[in-house]
This record gives sequence, C-alpha cells and structure tokens, in this order.
Amino acid sequence: MSTFWHWFIAAIAVGSIIGCLVLLFGNARGTPGEGTTGHVWDDDLREYNNPLPRWWLNLFILTIVFGVGYLIYYPGLGGFTGSSGWTQKKQLEQRMAEVQAKRQAVYARLGDRDIAALAQDPAVRSLGREVFLGNCAGCHGADAQGARGFPNLADRDWIYGGTPEAILASITQGRQGQMPPFSAALDAKAADELIDTVQHWADPAFNPARRATAMQQFALTCAACHGADGRGNALIGAPNLTDKVWLHGGSREAIRETVLFGRRSNMPAHKDILSADDIRVVAGYVYGLAPPAP
Ligand code: HEC
Ligand code: HEC
Repeated sequence: MSTFWHWFIAAIAVGSIIGCLVLLFGNARGTPGEGTTGHVWDDDLREYNNPLPRWWLNLFILTIVFGVGYLIYYPGLGGFTGSSGWTQKKQLEQRMAEVQAKRQAVYARLGDRDIAALAQDPAVRSLGREVFLGNCAGCHGADAQGARGFPNLADRDWIYGGTPEAILASITQGRQGQMPPFSAALDAKAADELIDTVQHWADPAFNPARRATAMQQFALTCAACHGADGRGNALIGAPNLTDKVWLHGGSREAIRETVLFGRRSNMPAHKDILSADDIRVVAGYVYGLAPPAP
C-alpha cells in the first residue's frame, strides 16, 4: 500500500472516532428539569434540554473503546498490521493446513483395503465426495446422476462394468466410447426399421415383421459391438440397447442421430490429475453410490 493511501485510510478511521467523541460530549450536557431547546409545537409543546441518559452514554463510550482496541489488535489503520499479526492470508493458510491434515488422516487409514471396503467407510466416502465435487461433478453432476452424454454413476447400470476394477480403470485410464456413423452404410428403409426397433426393443407389442427384418440388419451391422442380443459389451463400452437407460437419449430423433452420425464420448484419464490415494477414495465413493441389488 502506498504511503498516501495508508495515511488516507488511517486519517478517516481515526477522524471518525474523534468525530463521534466530539458529537457525543458536545450533546451530553444539559440541565435536568430546566431550560428548553426553544422548540415549541402546537402552542405549548416544548422540548426540554435534558442530559443524555447515563446508560446510553456509557454504551456509546464502550463501543468507542472497543473500536480503538480493535484497531490496535487487528489491521485496520491503513498499512498498520495490528499487534496480533492477523492476516487474511495466514488465516486461509491455516484453514488449508487443517483441511490437508484431515485428508492426511483419511489417507493414512486407507491401508491396503479394497474399494468395496473403502466404500463402507464414512470418512472415506466423505472425502471421496469432496474429490468428486472438485473433479467429476462438472461432467457427471453434483449428485453423480449424469446428463445427456455423461453417464449416471449412481445407478446400477454400467457401460464399462461396475466392479471395483472396472471403476478404477475408468477413472485411471479414462474411456473413449466410439459409436461409428452408419448414414453411408444403411439405406433409408433399413435405417428406419433399425432405429424403430432399437427404440422399442423392450416393447413386446412392437410390429413383429418390422422387428424381424431389423434384427437381420442388426446381426449384420451392429451385433459385433452391441452383442447378438443387444445387451452391449463392456470391453469396448458398447451400451446395452435393450434397457431403458440411454446415454445419448432414447427419443427417436436422438437414436436416429446416434445411428446415422455416430457418437464419441471422452472420459479423461485421471492418473496424472489425481494422486493414487485420491483415485481410490473417489472410486470408493462412486462404488458406494449404486443402490443395493434388488
Ligand atoms: C470431461 C468430462 C468428464 C469428467 C471430468 C469425468 N468424467 Fe467420467 N465419464 C465421462 C464420459 C463422457 C463418460 C462416458 C465415456 C464413454 O461412454 O465412453 C464417463 C464415464 C465414466 C465412468 C464409467 C461409467 C460406466 O457406466 O461404466 C466412470 C466410473 C466415471 N466416468 C467416473 C468419473 C470420475 C470418478 C470422475 C472424477 C475423478 C470423472 N468420471 C470425471 C466424462 C467425464
Ligand atoms: C464398432 C462398434 C459399434 C458398432 C458396429 C455399433 N455400435 Fe452402437 N455404439 C458403440 C459404442 C462404443 C457406443 C457408445 C458411444 C459412447 O460412449 O458415446 C454406441 C452407442 C450406441 C447407441 C446409443 C446408446 C445410448 O445409450 O444412448 C445406440 C442407439 C447404438 N449404439 C446403436 C447402434 C446400432 C443400431 C448399430 C448398428 C447399425 C450400432 N450401434 C453399431 C459401438 C458400436
């Protein structure tokens, strides 16, 4: 801070306290019961000039004493640092150190417990949630329920598998799901049949003739990745098409877009972003989110 601003701020602070004092004692005097201010209303209503009540005066003096003490103890007078040596930066550093110490305590407890065991530990889950909010929530949502193009991590439906190993691998190595575009490979009629059939896969009432021809096409073009039964392949991240969980949307338009123009998803690898401990902690948190099997 320049000397000008130091004196400027200090002068205003000291000046206002002195100003308060002057105002206070200037108005404190008066003679009880006698003399008026000379103000008269409604012919005979006069304002007496009585002294300020003692208790009120003392309270006011107390606040001024407090203010002076505060300005001596804490920084407040321009560049004067205060006798306590308190600074915002020091307080922040102290809080950060406290947080870090709390984290270290949890890391120390990890030991070689596996992810499933970590998921049972409330302290690990709570730290895992912090790591999640800081690193994953931007894509998967604060509640881990995902969004269009970003999978829900809080259900029992997994693209790459929900075992501790699969979750760890997803976080550590990242995932790159690629659904190729088929606009060139399918004629319009075949594409329509396929899209309708995929959309209504689980619906037993769906047009059987349409389903039959579409399944021939499916076996030819799609089954290599999504499986002959359409239940997907966790190894390459091809989703199950027979359930009601959609990564890119289950409306006809969304499925059409996926099939004709393809999709690319990128889950970034976190091995260079997070420490090994943080990866285990956040994996434990994610593992613990899935509701128990029905
Ligand atoms: C930049 C966005 C982004 C960030 C950040 C991100 N993810 Fe992902 N994540 C994705 C996408 C997109 C997918 C789906 C990938 C695919 O379909 O191939 C995914 C997939 C996953 C999967 C596999 C889900 C399944 O169904 O198999 C897990 C587990 C996962 N993420 C956990 C995390 C965790 C934990 C973090 C934080 C450490 C994180 N992600 C950070 C975008 C992100
Ligand atoms: C080379 C492997 C491959 C082939 C062949 C393939 N898919 Fe996919 N498909 C994927 C992958 C991988 C994804 C996931 C993309 C992602 O992670 O974003 C996917 C995603 C989808 C989705 C989106 C699912 C959702 O949950 O939103 C649909 C629908 C789909 N495929 C239908 C088809 C159909 C129909 C065919 C045949 C015409 C087909 N796929 C052929 C690999 C493939």
